[in-house]
Amino acid sequence: MTPTPTAADKFSFGLWTVGWTGRDQFGEAVRADLDLVKALNKLAELGAYGITFHDNDVVPFDATPAEREAILKTLTDTLASTGLAVPMVTTNLFSHPVFKDGGFTSNDRSVRRFALRKVLENLDLAASLGAETFVMWGGREGSEYDGSKDLSAAFDRMREGIDTTAAYIKEQGYNLKIAIEPKPNEPRGDIFLPTVGHALAFIETLEHKDIVGVNPETGHEQMAGLNYTHGIAQALWAGKLFHIDLNGQRSIKYDQDLVFGHGDLTSAFFTVDLVENGFPSGGNKYEGPRHFDYKPSRTDSYAGVWESAKANMAMYLLLKERAQAFRADAEVQEALKASGIYELAEPTLASGETLADLKADKTAFEDFDANAAGERDFAFIRLNQLALEHLMGARG
Ligand code: GCO
Ligand code: MN
Ligand code: MN
Repeated sequence: MTPTPTAADKFSFGLWTVGWTGRDQFGEAVRADLDLVKALNKLAELGAYGITFHDNDVVPFDATPAEREAILKTLTDTLASTGLAVPMVTTNLFSHPVFKDGGFTSNDRSVRRFALRKVLENLDLAASLGAETFVMWGGREGSEYDGSKDLSAAFDRMREGIDTTAAYIKEQGYNLKIAIEPKPNEPRGDIFLPTVGHALAFIETLEHKDIVGVNPETGHEQMAGLNYTHGIAQALWAGKLFHIDLNGQRSIKYDQDLVFGHGDLTSAFFTVDLVENGFPSGGNKYEGPRHFDYKPSRTDSYAGVWESAKANMAMYLLLKERAQAFRADAEVQEALKASGIYELAEPTLASGETLADLKADKTAFEDFDANAAGERDFAFIRLNQLALEHLMGARG
């Protein structure tokens, strides 16, 4: 039986996901435009609690102020009638030709000033809708040719753009945090801040780093051959996991944006295990939305689009059931203990122990039997087999 999602599960969807009409580099749209009201009604009916969007997913780039107002009225009315929340908003700084060399890091200063204004306008909207997270995905911030950018100046401008945005949030008293979304490439040949690690290091240089964190996407880490669960774990540990984009990716290739769990299923299991169960010995826990950023395959009609929305939530809930059963299993607990997982939480030096104390402790070095310790069996294989048996529904 597939569990039924409810608002308590905190599932949210980007409007650009179910609304993707299938236009790609090689082919035309395969589905008609999706009506805003229909999208919201359908997502609420399927059990989502929230929606997210880029400014231009809702208000066209060239809309007049009157058109903008009318569309936003439809949006707020439909949010009210469906009860859907808007936990996150983001700005499109990548579709229009003006952004072909980026927004915050375009070589053209007038474009950078325009990008900044577009972001500020959208912050006002985000705050008015009660959003708590403002995602910044710099899809066009990057280059194809290394000689085309002064990279030091580009990072200065990225820092200026994000710090100015953060300063505006504070000045206006908005309850918003910025979440930088890393991606290694696509649409640019190389994108600045390509991984969670690059973004975390960059954030430390900001004046307003207290309200800036990350929004890691499953496929974006995996496109770089990296481990998504490790990426969100480090962000969590650093107190910087402000939002997550869940989807599926199969190995190092173009950004597939598959349904969550339809890529690397084993990795998805450990992602859900971390998000739902936390670190084995405690620590920071992610409490934000379970947000899906995927693309319904262009082979499918709207019936398939709604199946894909359901599939994301079903995969998550099924993995949650299995991850909970995994942690509750007495044999797993015993295997975790045998593998030393809980020993890792114990500081290497005792509290108050000095380096002189360590040097004086002969059992740590002079009398330490490295050969015997080298023979320890951590039994990680058995532990992983237990995890996979839970994942496959073969246990409890
Ligand atoms: C991608 C990105 C985007 C961003 C979105 C938010 O698939 O390359 O994930 O979908 O998440 O644009 O700004
Ligand atoms: Mn993506
Ligand atoms: Mn994303």
